[in-house]
Amino acid sequence: MKSIFLGPPGCGKGTQAARLQERYGLVQISTGQMLREEVAKGSDLGRKVGGIMESGKLVPDELIIAMIGHRISGEDCQGGFILDGFPRTTSQAAALYSMLGNKRIVLDHVVHFSVDEDAMVRRITGRFSCAECGAGYHDEYQTPSVYGECDHCGGKEFQRRADDNEETVRARLEDYHTQTAPLIDFYTEIGLLRTIDGMAPIDDVTAELAEMFHRGSEQVEPAAIDESSNEIPATR
Ligand code: AP5
Repeated sequence: MKSIFLGPPGCGKGTQAARLQERYGLVQISTGQMLREEVAKGSDLGRKVGGIMESGKLVPDELIIAMIGHRISGEDCQGGFILDGFPRTTSQAAALYSMLGNKRIVLDHVVHFSVDEDAMVRRITGRFSCAECGAGYHDEYQTPSVYGECDHCGGKEFQRRADDNEETVRARLEDYHTQTAPLIDFYTEIGLLRTIDGMAPIDDVTAELAEMFHRGSEQVEPAAIDESSNEIPATR
């Protein structure tokens, strides 16, 4: 199964992709996480993107496209993957379209998480994760079963993301509207979009996704695209 998870910051893409990875062995490809690892390592890429990410702005397309092209070719992705946080612009969607076409990979779903955006600020400012294994939690909605101890690895250290403050979340939501939301129409037109209720409780969202994944893929012939252009087709 090859899917894209699409939705604003805080909608639950990462939480659900991690659960489906555990359940079905699909590879979660989170561009945000990959970039955070580069920042932590202090690599060239990390030094270029650290400040951009902290401000809530999108990293330039060419950096992301190069990074994802390499990752998608990985041996571990052959059995299926979930793109969590990519594509986020029309240029990224066009690049992905070509990349998948060249590798003869067919996407099964683009899952759009429909949410009330005012609630997203609360979700993000309450988010934290295990410093040891990265498992995600929330101050109100997803606390560890034993206070101060990670459910997955027993770790006792937790961390919060540098970009998880209200000001940055609002900048990220604004970018989502101008740059990412237009992809909803594109994936609707080529018949791949599935919308789920991202405001439902976490377990219910997982159940809905599991059912969708079980139902399997509906093979859809993708719309024609002008490969020489960097724009995805607006209509068919
Ligand atoms: P990224 O890491 O991708 O951040 P994001 O898209 O802003 O998404 P989030 O991780 O904040 O939200 P999520 O939907 O995964 O929510 P989660 O499941 O954690 O990107 C970070 C930065 O990297 C970007 O700002 C940009 O600079 C750069 N970047 C990354 N990709 C890029 C790209 N393609 N192009 C350019 N730049 C890029 O849930 C949030 C919280 O809510 C959690 O605490 C969770 O427990 C809780 N929660 C989840 N679901 C529910 C629910 N149903 N009910 C109640 N609580 C819930």
